[in-house]
Amino acid sequence: MQKVKGTYDVLPSESYKWLFLEKHIHQVMKKHQIDYVRTPVFEYFDVFHRQSEASDMVTKETYDFEDRSGRKITLRPEGTAGVIRSIIENKLITPNHVLKTYYLGANYRYERPQKGRYREFYQTGVEVIGDKHAVLDAEVIQIAYEIVSTLGIKDVVVKINHLGDAETRLNFKNALKAFLEPLKDQLSEDSKMRLESNPLRILDSKVPSDQALLKGAPVLYDFLTASDQKYFTLVTDILKQYHIPYIVDEKLVRGLDYYAHVVFELQANIDGFGSQNALGGGGRYDDLVAELGGPPLSGIGFALGLERLLLAAELQGITFKDDAPQYVAVLHMDSESKIEAYHIYKRLLDDGIDVSFDFSNKAFKTQLKHAISNNHTFAIIVGKDEIDTNTVQIKHLLTQTQEVVSMDDILTYLKKQ
Ligand code: HAM
Repeated sequence: MQKVKGTYDVLPSESYKWLFLEKHIHQVMKKHQIDYVRTPVFEYFDVFHRQSEASDMVTKETYDFEDRSGRKITLRPEGTAGVIRSIIENKLITPNHVLKTYYLGANYRYERPQKGRYREFYQTGVEVIGDKHAVLDAEVIQIAYEIVSTLGIKDVVVKINHLGDAETRLNFKNALKAFLEPLKDQLSEDSKMRLESNPLRILDSKVPSDQALLKGAPVLYDFLTASDQKYFTLVTDILKQYHIPYIVDEKLVRGLDYYAHVVFELQANIDGFGSQNALGGGGRYDDLVAELGGPPLSGIGFALGLERLLLAAELQGITFKDDAPQYVAVLHMDSESKIEAYHIYKRLLDDGIDVSFDFSNKAFKTQLKHAISNNHTFAIIVGKDEIDTNTVQIKHLLTQTQEVVSMDDILTYLKKQ
């Protein structure tokens, strides 16, 4: 049996990194008083396939199926729509209140797997509903950046753009189409198709000849209303004040169609990262809450890809390893002493001591070697003689000194060290 294409196992040799990363994320969210939500991995098809949505992700990349009763179901390809569905269904939106939630979990997209791109992948994300103000946009971007930077990951820049409202985008779309129409034959196949379905996405085409054709194309910023231009400046001014490295990227349009106004991506400029260099992204959405049955409130959020955070950390030599020496190893001299040694281990565990016990049947010498190579400070040695005299030997592994200690005094002895 083999794992499904585009999935991966997290093995014991790697899992500590995941635990570290997840703990880090929970800590940052707690600091910012954002509440954790957990929604189902699958939702009704309509949660992700809404009328207005025509993005590649939703049309081509979702795992859709019928359950045994014929319900149309979709495995979540992203967190936002399910979280908003849940917030509305559970009536968490109250007047004059800014609701901040975060999530962490698996998502599923039928994409072509490559470095940093999987069919099952993990995201953490934040959604903020209830107000539309530049401080919220700036705050959300800062939190995304903080998660990355406080992990120690460097060389990350926030790309930011403003997509305007629906009318702005329609005007811009028409102007862009009019500009590209005469050049249609020279566009890549993908971009040719997008000229009809979603011309804005041509802007972020990775094909160099497409990018060359875009020289001299209309610029979105010129189509923004004066108040949108002002809003954008307020957001970038706050980012500047808080030393968030950002660049305005006129071509950033993002892959999901619910976005309006401010959008952003955290881009890793790290050698060896590969072409999938977005650590995360997000933006504001105006219509999503209403489309999912809620009040006409604007929201803003982001999601970071956990696999990509781990890859960035690895490439920059961040190990996540807890190098603190393990404190105590309880060793047994022979199989007869194993049960007594086990009881000592359990008592010390309950007393809050950082203690390990070798459950295998390794010879005593091998147990000792392991205790030393795993950086233990003390070995507590239990053999027949010790059991008969109600004592243990405590060996200080750094100084190689050894003392006999009564079984009842082990804790006191360790606490004195
Ligand atoms: P997204 O840009 O589609 O946005 O995904 C966010 C991040 O998830 C990406 O930057 C990437 O790190 C990671 N990611 C996406 N697809 C894959 C994949 N196939 N394999 C590995 N990692 C992947 C969203 O999902 C929006 N819901 C973000 C958002 C929240 N916007 C507003 N609120």
